[in-house]
Amino acid sequence: MSTIPTAPINAARKKITTHTFQLKKKKRQPISMLTAYDYPTALAMDQAGVDSILVGDSLGMVVLGYENTLPVTMEDMLHHSKAVSRGAKSALLIGDMPFMSYQLSPQEALRNAGRFLQEAGMDAVKLEGGKERLDTIRLIVSAGIPVMGHLGLTPQSVHQLGGFRAQGKLASAAQQILEDAHLLQNAGCFSIVLESIPAKLATYISEQLDIPTIGIGAGAGCDGQVLVTHDMLGLFERFTPRFVKKYADLHGDLQRAFGDYIVEVESREFPAKEHCVEMKEEEWEAFQAAVNSNQ
Ligand code: KIV
Repeated sequence: MSTIPTAPINAARKKITTHTFQLKKKKRQPISMLTAYDYPTALAMDQAGVDSILVGDSLGMVVLGYENTLPVTMEDMLHHSKAVSRGAKSALLIGDMPFMSYQLSPQEALRNAGRFLQEAGMDAVKLEGGKERLDTIRLIVSAGIPVMGHLGLTPQSVHQLGGFRAQGKLASAAQQILEDAHLLQNAGCFSIVLESIPAKLATYISEQLDIPTIGIGAGAGCDGQVLVTHDMLGLFERFTPRFVKKYADLHGDLQRAFGDYIVEVESREFPAKEHCVEMKEEEWEAFQAAVNSNQ
């Protein structure tokens, strides 16, 4: 039987809902959001008091080691979302719909969105794209599933965008993002992620919309912020976007810990007496006597 504790429900901290998001926007209180992909990280984050946890398809890059997010499947996302929902009891949990889980038809998108709530304990889903997603968003929302939009740098379109590059720097592109943001709001999104767009533009969009914007590489004028946890913990070393602030150097800490372990195993310093199972002397003597009498 597992001895892993489930997250204590902090009576002082109520469950965060999409309604809380709306209230925070109204009160101009910034919304905090981070990504998580496993139980212990979700537990720590939830206990720290984060408003929302996104099980992002960044999973593919920072946990599964892919070059981009395109190979991530629904089964990958559900597996990790289940672990996160076992750890986090208060934060609003958002499952990121992976590539090809919502592009084929609104009906298939609805079926997959439903799986995040029904099988994996998520409270909402996120999907990328603007006006081309409106029918899909309307159908999912009409089934009672909250949808978060995602505009600007949309990593599932990395090949179309020509790489992971900032978006909306030209007036025409900025206008398109603004128009898409209004369309997503009108289609029923409860919030929109704005990724890697000019801070001025993100501030303007945030002021224009009634729903909260969550920025990543979009400046301080958004209604909330999200970071990929492996980036902010310094755990993912392959590539870190310049908008990331590192709050720890876990890659360095891990390397040091692993190195110390190897040195101590090789020098027999580990395991020490306190790490060993004791046996009473009389039991040991009885054991030896029994072994010797059998010889
Ligand atoms: O997949 C992800 O982690 C995301 C965030 C970058 C918003 O979509």
